[in-house]
Amino acid sequence: MVGSPKPLWIVANFKSHETIQESIEWISTVGPHVEDRPEVQIIVCPTFTSLAEVKHAAMVGNYRLQIGSQDISPFEEGAYTGEEAAPLLKELANYAIIGHSERRTNFQETDEMVAKKVAMATEAGITPIVCVQGAETPVPDGCTVVAYEPVFAIGTGTPDTPQNANEVATKLKEKYGQDLNVLYGGSVTEENIKAFLEQDLINGSLIGGASLDPEQFLRILEVVYKQNRG
Ligand code: PGA
Repeated sequence: MVGSPKPLWIVANFKSHETIQESIEWISTVGPHVEDRPEVQIIVCPTFTSLAEVKHAAMVGNYRLQIGSQDISPFEEGAYTGEEAAPLLKELANYAIIGHSERRTNFQETDEMVAKKVAMATEAGITPIVCVQGAETPVPDGCTVVAYEPVFAIGTGTPDTPQNANEVATKLKEKYGQDLNVLYGGSVTEENIKAFLEQDLINGSLIGGASLDPEQFLRILEVVYKQNRG
């Protein structure tokens, strides 16, 4: 890609992994290497139990890391036992992953619930990162960032092809507007991320397994920064 660097979102999704201590160590390993570049957002999404400590560690270190949650309540603050309401999460997170296929499969999350969660997030000033499993997954109003994550590619070591990911991004943009930013997720590694970021319409990546080891994630960041410099 030539010309000015495109905006990128690189998202580390810890899923149900990493203790508080491990998460803090991750922050202190990765944080110092996050560059002060407004066009590249590095977002870490730890477990709910680690969010407060992670935010604190990022603040104390004065790192340019953004913090995200892995889900958000579809309800307002109130009598919803076990839920994390958007106005409360806002104290800890600027971003929220919403509608991950693991939530759709294991927790029966529907497109309607996803839309409610997106509405709650945006109202609270949290940027939703909505996971779509293909161009046919509905993208709710108010979304600016989506992650295309085909189920066959998640945690399998078999990513989609960069060309197909770009095709899906093309379709999503045709449907929802050219301003929609499309990330790719599913078995992204330090070896293959470059090929995805080279695609015209891919604006970053959602990374699960390969984000857990901070050293491995740093190697991914190296590729991201190098490529984005052109
Ligand atoms: P993976 O997960 O990188 O381990 O395939 C990606 C995701 O599910 O967000």
